[in-house]
Amino acid sequence: MELKDRVIIVTGASKGLGVAIAETCAREGATVVLAARSEGRLGALRERITAEGGRALAVRCDVSRLHDLERLVETSVATLGAIHGLVNNAGVNFVKPFLTVTEDEWDHVMDVDLKGSFFLSQLCARQMIAQGTGGSIVQIASVHTHASVAGASPYDAAKHGMVGFSKAAAIELAKERVRVNVLSPGLCRTEIWKALIAAAPSEAECARYWNSNIPAERLIEPTEIAGACVFLLGDRSSCITGANLMADLGVTSQLVSKEPYQSRHIVGE
Ligand SMILES: NC(=O)c1ccc[n+]([C@@H]2O[C@H](COP(=O)([O-])OP(=O)(O)OC[C@H]3O[C@@H](n4cnc5c(N)ncnc54)[C@H](O)[C@@H]3O)[C@@H](O)[C@H]2O)c1
Repeated sequence: MELKDRVIIVTGASKGLGVAIAETCAREGATVVLAARSEGRLGALRERITAEGGRALAVRCDVSRLHDLERLVETSVATLGAIHGLVNNAGVNFVKPFLTVTEDEWDHVMDVDLKGSFFLSQLCARQMIAQGTGGSIVQIASVHTHASVAGASPYDAAKHGMVGFSKAAAIELAKERVRVNVLSPGLCRTEIWKALIAAAPSEAECARYWNSNIPAERLIEPTEIAGACVFLLGDRSSCITGANLMADLGVTSQLVSKEPYQSRHIVGE
């Protein structure tokens, strides 16, 4: 068990990647603090984890509110005694042309995706230092920290911001044995995928299009992202800090998705 006896906070644990990350951490021996806004969903997940023999604590939390983040950390420490890991997974996606984004829309994305992850990282790092154990912080960003698509400007700004502050924090906290890394997923099978299908002529058509843009020609399953999180949270990644790991089935490594007019030139021919 990679995370035996660790206390790990997972934000956005009410659906999608957050659920898979929380369940996988619990199976790896961690006590998981489930943080999200929906108490009903958190309660259901806590019961599922407990029924499997795992340990979980559910704390209602809006990550855009500093007061909620403080309460989350206080409750975790008061109930479980320590915090060894954090996964800043909660996030809002947002698609709108750059020329039409309003101040409120910008603020909302920044508050959830960037401010929330910044201050929760700060609060957890303070606790990890105070308890003398160090710890590991993982930010769930996106392949958008490498390249973009039209309509994603506030989301991209926030996710790039996560990479930026994580590098600074990784340097400042290295001697305290607090590691800070970013995990940047490609397209995963979550609500985001359902939203793409809803906007497409058919699921098959949508899958054909996206598979043609992904070298592995498939979506990423949430459990695969969870596995990468366990690696970054656990001791096997002990020398890795300040990194931005692309979990993307090769998407950010390719220049173009398919090249129909490939050169047949061979050196020496
Ligand atoms: N699914 C993908 O293809 C994909 C790709 C790259 C990055 N990501 C990132 O992974 C993370 C999870 O994505 P997902 O697909 O599971 O999304 P999702 O929409 O299914 O889940 C997002 C979670 O964040 C929570 N959340 C939103 N606002 C919150 C707030 N103010 N306070 C607390 N919780 C809040 C939601 O309740 C939900 O639990 C996000 O940060 C997203 O940007 C997802």
